[in-house]
Amino acid sequence: MQEVTDRDFMALIAQYRAPDFYITEYFRVYANSRLDRHILRAITENTTNRPVFAQLIGEHLPDLQRIAQELQTYPIAGIDLNLGCPAPRVYRKNVGGGLLREPETVDRLLAGLREVIPVPFTVKMRVGFADLGHFSQLLTLLARHGIDRVSLHGRTVKEGYRGEVRYEAIAQAVQTLPCPVIANGNVDSAAKAQTVLARTGAAGVMIGRGAIANPWIFRQIHDVLRGHPPYPPTYQEAYAYLQALADLAPPHAGAPQRLARLKKYANFVGTHLNAAFLQQMRRSQTLAEFWEICGAHLLTQPQTA
Ligand SMILES: Cc1cc2nc3c(=O)[nH]c(=O)nc-3n(C[C@H](O)[C@H](O)[C@H](O)COP(=O)(O)O)c2cc1C
Repeated sequence: MQEVTDRDFMALIAQYRAPDFYITEYFRVYANSRLDRHILRAITENTTNRPVFAQLIGEHLPDLQRIAQELQTYPIAGIDLNLGCPAPRVYRKNVGGGLLREPETVDRLLAGLREVIPVPFTVKMRVGFADLGHFSQLLTLLARHGIDRVSLHGRTVKEGYRGEVRYEAIAQAVQTLPCPVIANGNVDSAAKAQTVLARTGAAGVMIGRGAIANPWIFRQIHDVLRGHPPYPPTYQEAYAYLQALADLAPPHAGAPQRLARLKKYANFVGTHLNAAFLQQMRRSQTLAEFWEICGAHLLTQPQTA
């Protein structure tokens, strides 16, 4: 996830129990683009003991091929192409989710990239741009080009993060594609992961926001898939997690920047807390105020989170 899943965040999540693999933030690829050094550190300084896939986003084949080849000189598990980003400033440039409007372009990019990617080549995509009109055709292309794994967010680009996730479309991909399909979208608990796996037949689930909100989620999924109750973190542990997130701020960051970063994370963590926490936390003006509010909501609670 852009501006989230960097080296330090991946390492922090691994302390709670790492997912089976990670995917980097995307490397934006364009004419003469260079590998972003910060994103690259998630690969070169990966301490998680888990494989890392490097994600690319772009539309120009020779540049995508150039960067894909350069990335293969680093310890990556494979290369992932982003065909799902819904941010208008991204899709308007016809990259990410914007490409789902043009199956011919997707066909050309997948063919050309496959030629230079002998290592696992995976795709992250949504079910369509505005509707599912091209979905079956896109699945055919993924199969034709021997894509090794598809992570599918069951919404269209236009839907952004709104509306129901179309798990039945993910089930269609599972039935159609020869490669593993990973179900993505709104998996925010171990119980939801179990339901989505059963409903779609997917080989796994990809977790985005749920992992920021609840770093125990991978451990909890591991628990329930083995028939155990999910690990119940305490409110104190949630507070300690926020403190660990605070430590991820770059050393040169000033107080306003630190507060803004913390609020970004706390917005996710707060989805598991009460509405008053979110309201008060968002209004905090200083770091001291932020921690006072966190303390009042988290350190005085007897029960588990
Ligand atoms: C802050 C943020 C950044 C994201 N950045 C990326 C990205 O760089 N590449 C990508 O494939 N998806 C990215 N996504 C989308 C997620 O991978 C995922 O598809 C989406 O959040 C739905 O899954 P979730 O409900 O588990 O969060 C991002 C999502 C968020 C919230």
